[in-house]
Amino acid sequence: MSQKLTAPRGTLDVLPPDSALYNFIAQTARDVFAQYGFLEIQTPIFEHTELFVRGVGETTDVVSKEMYTFLDKKERSLTLRPEGTAGAIRAYIEHNLGSALPIQKLFYIGPMFRYERPQAGRLRQHTQVGCECIGASTPQADAEIIDLFCRFTGKLGLQNIKVMLNTLGDNDCRPKYKTALQDYFRENLPNLCPDCQQRFEKNPLRILDCKSEGCKTIVGSCPVMLDYLCEPCKEHFETVKSILSDLKINYDVNPLLVRGLDYYTHTVFEVQVSGLGAQNAIGGGGRYNHLVEELGGASVPALGFGSGIERIALTLKNHQIELPELTKKPVFIAALGTPAINQSLVLAQELRNHNIPVMLDYRFGSFKSQFKYADKISAPFVLILGDNEIERGVIMIKNMSSGEQKEYSLSTPAEWLPILK
Ligand code: HAM
Repeated sequence: MSQKLTAPRGTLDVLPPDSALYNFIAQTARDVFAQYGFLEIQTPIFEHTELFVRGVGETTDVVSKEMYTFLDKKERSLTLRPEGTAGAIRAYIEHNLGSALPIQKLFYIGPMFRYERPQAGRLRQHTQVGCECIGASTPQADAEIIDLFCRFTGKLGLQNIKVMLNTLGDNDCRPKYKTALQDYFRENLPNLCPDCQQRFEKNPLRILDCKSEGCKTIVGSCPVMLDYLCEPCKEHFETVKSILSDLKINYDVNPLLVRGLDYYTHTVFEVQVSGLGAQNAIGGGGRYNHLVEELGGASVPALGFGSGIERIALTLKNHQIELPELTKKPVFIAALGTPAINQSLVLAQELRNHNIPVMLDYRFGSFKSQFKYADKISAPFVLILGDNEIERGVIMIKNMSSGEQKEYSLSTPAEWLPILK
């Protein structure tokens, strides 16, 4: 026998009923995003590699280690998107969306690809819902995007989420902070991991995001951006915090939060939950005031966030959160004998015309075996149609939870259709 084929490492087959859960999460996101006026954008799953190198940053793990990059038949370097922001901004610039509206609010839902070490909640293909608000510079927009995320998780029934907040300043104050960081890390350089020794020159902020235990200890007492903020950045951050308090959103300032992507300025945030182990971020984002310009557009401020559907689904399951019925269970028609079997399809059509989902066991075995099937799919009702019923123009309806069974005339559906809804 030839070897069994399996899905690539780090990917998921989303099977029923999980697929309904994933759709429910995505639909909840769509509903909440619409409440804030976000409209959907769909961008390609692959982009020119340069977009991510320029957009996300060469020294990030995402770009330096995790990208699925390949040459196409014309030797162009393409990359499966590792995140959604760069593509959305590329499309915003390419289609001059800024000329249509001064503030563009876009959202996306789709797969992202990162060559990471797979573990629970960390996949090589994951699905992100994300929002990008382009053209807004005020701190009110920062607070509202966090409010949006909290509304999204709240609607899903997720409690005990933790919003971690920080600011990364801007081009005025961050260079001073970088110098302070380098001064601090210089003394510890030999004790940093080889990756961080490289990051030290090019991008010392990345050291704050290092997962190695040795580096984490050194980072524990490093200088923090909050002490280096210029007045406007400080004011921006204070306003964000004060609006979050007005909105009754619980947050903790974490001065070491830098996020894993290089484009951020000002506010950054991450939303964490318990029960996901090390992969406890169900979403994160922040402001990125220079990305549009860095990708060739005008100088336009922007902000956004992304959230992984798989991590949210895991959290809903771990926390045993009760969800609404995700798929309506179909009623079942058990038919025996050729005239009844043929009639069952006409009946099924009629039921579906009334938006009642219907299933049949196309093998049309004994009533006993058809009932077994109805049980397996947890059908709430079984409609029984045999020669006898056809002859008399009736239908027998069995309520599967009460066991009650009653006969109705086939010609007066108004009497029995409402029972099945
Ligand atoms: P990110 O923090 O890299 O940000 O990813 C956003 C979310 O996607 C994470 O919080 C997590 O829930 C999920 N996620 C990321 N990587 C994986 C993975 N390997 N497996 C499962 N889930 C994962 C961004 O991607 C930014 N583009 C967010 C953003 C939008 N910032 C501004 N606008």
